[in-house]
Amino acid sequence: MSSHGDPIPMTSAASGPLSGRADVPGDKSISHRSLILGAMAVGETTITGLLEGQDVLDTARAMRAFGAEVTDLGGGKWSVHGVGVGGFAEPDQVIDCGNSGTGVRLIMGAMATSPISVTFTGDASLNKRPMARVTDPLALFGCEAVGRSGGRLPMTLVGAADPVPAHYTVPVPSAQVKSAVLLAGLNAPGETVVIEAEATRDHTERMLAGFGAEISTEVTDEGRVITLKGRPELRPQHIDVPRDPSSAAFPVCAALIVPGSDVVVPTIGLNPTRAGLFTTLREMGADLTYENERLEGGEPVADLRARFSPDLHGIEVPPERAASMIDEYPVLSVVASFAKGETHMPGVKELRVKESDRIAAMADGLRAAGVGVEDGPDWWTVLGLGHGNVPGGVTCASHLDHRIAMSFLVMGMATQKPMSVDDGGPIATSFPIFEPLMAGLGAKVRRT
Ligand code: S3P
Repeated sequence: MSSHGDPIPMTSAASGPLSGRADVPGDKSISHRSLILGAMAVGETTITGLLEGQDVLDTARAMRAFGAEVTDLGGGKWSVHGVGVGGFAEPDQVIDCGNSGTGVRLIMGAMATSPISVTFTGDASLNKRPMARVTDPLALFGCEAVGRSGGRLPMTLVGAADPVPAHYTVPVPSAQVKSAVLLAGLNAPGETVVIEAEATRDHTERMLAGFGAEISTEVTDEGRVITLKGRPELRPQHIDVPRDPSSAAFPVCAALIVPGSDVVVPTIGLNPTRAGLFTTLREMGADLTYENERLEGGEPVADLRARFSPDLHGIEVPPERAASMIDEYPVLSVVASFAKGETHMPGVKELRVKESDRIAAMADGLRAAGVGVEDGPDWWTVLGLGHGNVPGGVTCASHLDHRIAMSFLVMGMATQKPMSVDDGGPIATSFPIFEPLMAGLGAKVRRT
């Protein structure tokens, strides 16, 4: 649902040592893709460990509207009876993707090469976000789109009745755009080619191969050239969704800044297209170790062990690492506040068009809490104060953005005075158990 109901104000306060094991929920990116690819396969796909956050539930509801049978079997187990590539029915209702940019953009791609008309909408955050980055390449397949000014939702897409394959170089580092083009390419005859200059998360490519599509990636001077052969018959799969490294970031970062902490976050994927935060934290002097390193489902996985890190120092985060940690900059800026010296984060223009303008949202709250922040169109710098020196004591706006809300709540676990957010409701989009999980580790976090 796009409405999140009444705001849920939340507060966190200086906490005793955090300790124990943090079992974070399933990966949001892989959960969306499991439902969408399951709906495009013929037969029954089964999923375990699905993230049952609102974003993913909205995608499940959308897949039902396109004709797939999607069943919640309980305990994170789901079943999807797909309709096959090109088998989507025209929904008889508006598709409401709530807060989810990933949901709406991937579904737009998946329907763009079917002869159906679909109207999309979302919540106040999603309806501000740019959609032309997806509808421009979808036009190459023959799909038409009419939306509000600035290419914003609500928007109607008329899928191509006679699609042609596309050859597209993605102009911004975006896995959502890349994925939308690949999903559209599924129902176009011939080869669709997507080129990305910077590597972004590659779950769509890996999962398409798993579902039996012919897809290859070549690394060239232009970047990653991904070629997909259209009109495959996707074979249903069993998918065991790994835990989300972007959610793991919150207990990990909290442990690094709360004195005396020692927390284990088991079975976190270290796919290089997602693990940039953990590398960055280690460069800042974090006591973050990878235990039981192993391969699961072909992906590198480890149990992350994060301990209070008294000697954190600011660093220059390489811009070429940005795509692999794009969702983690808000919580990194919190850790940077407790580090000594400056943490400079260049090459992050995309942060301005997420669920909120994440540079502005974090800079406002950090400054109000007593931390110096400088920022420009595509960079920001946090002037760290060192442990014990961060004042806090303010209420921050979460701007309908789950990661902003969780970042300020993590911050309040180590500031001199408590930190509050005006609305923790959006946390349910990606990490519905955030509050009990953090409280279980010993954090003082509560609804106010
Ligand atoms: C996602 C891609 C990223 C990321 C988002 C999930 C995905 O967005 O921020 O949370 O699942 O493909 P962009 O494609 O806009 O970078």
